[in-house]
Amino acid sequence: MSAIYLSLHTLAAVFWIGGIFFAYMVMRPLSAQMEPPARLRMWNSAYARFFPWVWVFIALLVVSGYLDMLTRFSSASTPYLIAMQVVGWLMILIFAWLYFGLFARLRRAVASENWPEGGAVMRTIRWVMFTNLCLGALITVIGVAGPYLP
Ligand code: HEM
Repeated sequence: MSAIYLSLHTLAAVFWIGGIFFAYMVMRPLSAQMEPPARLRMWNSAYARFFPWVWVFIALLVVSGYLDMLTRFSSASTPYLIAMQVVGWLMILIFAWLYFGLFARLRRAVASENWPEGGAVMRTIRWVMFTNLCLGALITVIGVAGPYLP
């Protein structure tokens, strides 16, 4: 079973972090050349498609992570597994704030064509995406290198 849990866990992590990387490193610099209305509409549509997937990835990560941990490890207090949970739940909380707080504000701003408000929300969203990208890189190193630590 561990092979299934680990495969689902890794696929979900790769798709979530890869999606953030593409949005932050590729789309963000390109979208900076667009006029605010087109740019904000584009981000609103892109997030509306990507974020529901992120909830699927989160569900897979949490379920597969705990199933693997409880079946394969005798103790959940291995230091790198504690770090995995702390960073993992932090990423999930940050995403929940992004989804229910910031993205909801962006949707309202785009619907009411309030471009200054949309621009202000996007500046915060950019930092939130950057933070989760860094935490995503960190959690990948924890998950991959952790088992080999002395
Ligand atoms: C919050 C609950 C989570 C739990 C209980 C959990 C548990 C685990 C476990 C048991 C492993 C296997 C470690 C080993 O083979 O020694 C693992 C690995 C890993 N985890 Fe997590 N994890 C969680 C969240 C996350 C999140 C949110 C991400 C990424 C966004 C993530 C990314 C990874 C990666 C990249 C690996 C290494 C590759 C792999 O073995 O699948 N984990 N995790």
